[in-house]
Amino acid sequence: MPRIFVADKLEAQGLQLLQQAGFEIDAREKLTGAALVEALQAADGVIVRSATRITAELLQNPGKCRVIVRAGVGVDNIDVDAATRRGILVMNTPSGNTVSTAEQTIALLFALVRHTAAADASMRAGKWERNKFVGTQLAGKTIGVVGLGRIGREVARRCAGLDMKVVGYDPVLSAAGAANLGIETVGSLNDLLPRCQFLTVHTPLTDETRDLIGAEQLARLPKGARVLNCARGGIINELALVESLRSGHLAGAALDVFVEEPPPADHPLLKLSNVVLTPHLGASTTEAQLSVATEAAQLISDYLLRGVVGFAVNMPPIDRAEMEELRLYVDLARRLGLLLGQLAQGTIQKAEIEYRGEVARKSTRLISAAFAAGLLETRIEQVNIVNAPKLAEERGVEIISSTSSRKGDFSTMVKVDLHTDRGVTSAAGTLFGNQYLRLVQLGDYHLDAYMDGVMLLFHHRDLPGLIGYIGTIFGKHAVNIAQMTVGRQQPGGEAIAVLNLDSPPPDAALAEVRAHDKISQVSVVKLPPAGQMPPWFG
Ligand code: NAD
Ligand code: MLT
Repeated sequence: MPRIFVADKLEAQGLQLLQQAGFEIDAREKLTGAALVEALQAADGVIVRSATRITAELLQNPGKCRVIVRAGVGVDNIDVDAATRRGILVMNTPSGNTVSTAEQTIALLFALVRHTAAADASMRAGKWERNKFVGTQLAGKTIGVVGLGRIGREVARRCAGLDMKVVGYDPVLSAAGAANLGIETVGSLNDLLPRCQFLTVHTPLTDETRDLIGAEQLARLPKGARVLNCARGGIINELALVESLRSGHLAGAALDVFVEEPPPADHPLLKLSNVVLTPHLGASTTEAQLSVATEAAQLISDYLLRGVVGFAVNMPPIDRAEMEELRLYVDLARRLGLLLGQLAQGTIQKAEIEYRGEVARKSTRLISAAFAAGLLETRIEQVNIVNAPKLAEERGVEIISSTSSRKGDFSTMVKVDLHTDRGVTSAAGTLFGNQYLRLVQLGDYHLDAYMDGVMLLFHHRDLPGLIGYIGTIFGKHAVNIAQMTVGRQQPGGEAIAVLNLDSPPPDAALAEVRAHDKISQVSVVKLPPAGQMPPWFG
């Protein structure tokens, strides 16, 4: 049974789910150095929360590891790029803690304007300071929400419920999406800032969003504004924030997340009285932890046992039902890639994939990734559906796809033109009867060949006796021909033959085939046996 390394604290229900599925579990928190490397290398999959950092260095030799699941949203503790390059699938549990984090934002908003923490501390110190803790009413105030994804939207909804005026900014949100939210959105951060009495950020931490709110942006906020960060430390620049709070430009800040967690004891934020701080508690509710733990366990289990990809961060997202439906297309595309990778001569430059008919309505990005995996498998080691597009891109191989609902001769078809520096090789495949993989076109020839096992392909002139000649050669060399198909444009003209052989032909047999003066371009292609799914497909 596969082994799972649970690197951070996971709720018991998540561990139980893994146990029930029969996994071998290595649950050890706070490992570092060699122990962490060994634990990762020995596991088929890893579950982390935010504490363990999965760095590029750690992934240099990932051993057996095929999948990393983040029990939570932010994957900034995982070097996703390095994982992708190694063909390791990264998944997260995007919605399990959405509501809890939105609620924490609202809790901090109230704590900020009603001085809850300071008033509590004052009373415990024996004081009764009613005048000192006069608050600010939220109703009627304007809050700017930066990032209108899952959490940002929940926060926006709740703020609207508090009778606040909500203005949002998210560069990826379409006008229709914004209209559906029922809140006003603006086209740029600069348009948003001057209007905000409160500003809350809900973006991921990326190179683009690091320091998204710096000194310049804080200065654009009206004097007396308050800011909140329940997303990731560093989206609001901490030093600029401290300056703005000290100068009195900002009236307050509430932070659940920090650049360094925990922040160093001498961090200036800890010394300011107009801030409310919580130790990354957004997702720390019983409900959210249960939800992300069970979701993470289910995701890793589905992937390792059934090849089902749930919330992938480095692969096209795909739901369970669709994945099941795509299995045969993934197999077909990979086999087309393997076939063309073996047939094509020269340096691969570009693959143009055309999806026709039914397949055009499916997740073709995933099918293209499977094609790229097959294509590169013949030339690079350890390629899979996760890293193939990236590896192709890094090697300057363009994978271009187009779709057409036009059915043509087949109700569904995947056709590829593979361009190399020596020319173009084309092949097309279909699902016959929605279950059998068939090669239906090679170059300009239409045919009907099985796409498995050892295949012998050759061009020839369509003459009487030629097929008998081939049969005699293979009979003599004890190679059984399982099936044969010929594609030709006209009787007696140029033709192509595809033979499925039960064993690889010996060199002597191939030499005899090549010796015939009406036979040319003899190639042997090896494909997986019928029904054998790619090893990376679970
Ligand atoms: P999400 O992916 O659903 O939404 C993020 C949104 O940010 C997207 O709509 C995206 O378009 C937008 N965005 C990206 N770049 C932007 C930019 N430059 N300006 C404006 N918008 C931008 O993510 P989510 O689930 O809503 O999570 C949001 C954040 O909350 C993440 O950073 C996540 O790690 C963090 N989080 C924190 C806690 C916690 O415990 N405090 C818990 C869960 C999530
Ligand atoms: C997340 O990204 O899900 C949150 O930061 C909560 C956590 O740390 O798991």
